[in-house]
Amino acid sequence: MVADIKTLSTLGITLSAAFASTGSAAQVSTSQPGEVAYASTCASCHGGPSAVISRTGSLNDPATQAQLDRFLARHYTRNAEQRRAIIDYLATLNRR
Ligand code: HEC
Repeated sequence: MVADIKTLSTLGITLSAAFASTGSAAQVSTSQPGEVAYASTCASCHGGPSAVISRTGSLNDPATQAQLDRFLARHYTRNAEQRRAIIDYLATLNRR
């Protein structure tokens, strides 16, 4: 967790924004690229990822992932690689 805090601080992200609605920083365990991208791109508006996941439906479904990919292309994430990373990250949380 210390490593994550360092990573996020380096990027100038406030932890309060990144973890605002997860309620628990401990849920975020590894620093995957998608986690970092989520924190820097989405968290300022959406808070923690659980709020977003509750809107997307099950990301275990490839069709839902494809739908989210199309949505994010118009929604703050024009970079396809970054979309992939964020979707993978959200899908990982979804499976827990
Ligand atoms: C500048 C603020 C802002 C940023 C940055 C932002 N969003 Fe959003 N997002 C919104 C708003 C506003 C809505 C619409 C909320 C509503 O309908 O109540 C929304 C809606 C959504 C929805 C719901 C779509 C639906 O069809 O219901 C998802 C999923 C989503 N955002 C994911 C993301 C992800 C992932 C990121 C990061 C790549 C992101 N957002 C970045 C403001 C933002």
